[in-house]
Amino acid sequence: MLDMSDSAASRHRPSAGGVVISWPDLDPSPSAGWAHRHLLDVDQLTRAELERSLDLAVEMRERRIRRESLDLLRGEVVGLAFCEPSTRTRVSFELAAEALGAQVVELPIDVSSVTKGESLVDTLRTLERTGVTMVILRHSMSGAPYLAARSVAVRIVNAGDGSHAHPTQALLDALTLRDALGTLDGKKIAIIGDIGHSRVARSNLHALTALGASVWLAGPPSWVRGFDGWPGVQVADRLQDALADADAVMALRIQLEREAGGGVPSLREYTARWGLDADRLAAARPAAPVLHPGPTNEGVEITADLAASERSLIGAQVVNGVAMRMAVLALLAR
Ligand code: CP
Repeated sequence: MLDMSDSAASRHRPSAGGVVISWPDLDPSPSAGWAHRHLLDVDQLTRAELERSLDLAVEMRERRIRRESLDLLRGEVVGLAFCEPSTRTRVSFELAAEALGAQVVELPIDVSSVTKGESLVDTLRTLERTGVTMVILRHSMSGAPYLAARSVAVRIVNAGDGSHAHPTQALLDALTLRDALGTLDGKKIAIIGDIGHSRVARSNLHALTALGASVWLAGPPSWVRGFDGWPGVQVADRLQDALADADAVMALRIQLEREAGGGVPSLREYTARWGLDADRLAAARPAAPVLHPGPTNEGVEITADLAASERSLIGAQVVNGVAMRMAVLALLAR
């Protein structure tokens, strides 16, 4: 997609960190023909668009390894508006935007005018008037990024809204799984735990099934209820049925901040019945990898040994997060 022929490479300006590649050198630019102003969830993307996003992330990853800087976002001002805690998503968006030459503005919500009662829309209008052109928004309210996209002219990237969607997490999970399995077509992916409160699970169901996988869910009944009608998704009564011959397994954190605790008698009982460990993973295909979007509560949904084992792709997910977010920002660039 991006031209790195010798003739193009010879026009690149050297810089202290490697090579700076200017927008005109990229033919075509990553955003050419991209139909979307915002990324609100992965359900807005066709299979071809999902694959284009993953392919571009692979290219971004290789360019990061070669320590190349791209100025695809030159002139863009990216605002980080995280109204809920985050480590991976916030840091990787900041690094991704900077790697693409954007100016990055952090809006620390706890010391912003939100604490004086300013609404989300007024806050976003203020950012827009100061020159912010893209907002990376995390919010506890499901649907907040959709309200934002309707209310302001800046481009919105959903960095996680309530229990609804986390599109860039699903994209980086799909990339990590595609790296490990070669393809998602025909693969069985098991997702275990607090599905009902999980924006990661919902976005993964869209992305993984669109890319050809079948997804098996298992967890306490009140956390998997209603998902059996989802195309390409099976809800298992028993953990073993979801894990049996799975090509990959993903554990989820119990979303206590969304009052998930009421779904199980205690965390100890959850771990006893649904927690992932090496013995239980033996039901999956040999060497089937294990994933977790993080943050993990080791000893609750996954053992510390399994999270640190050779089968764990948890570190790869974080690494892929930066490249995937570079790809998303590049696709949305003007
Ligand atoms: N997976 C995820 O969204 O992690 P953070 O909350 O640390 O961003």
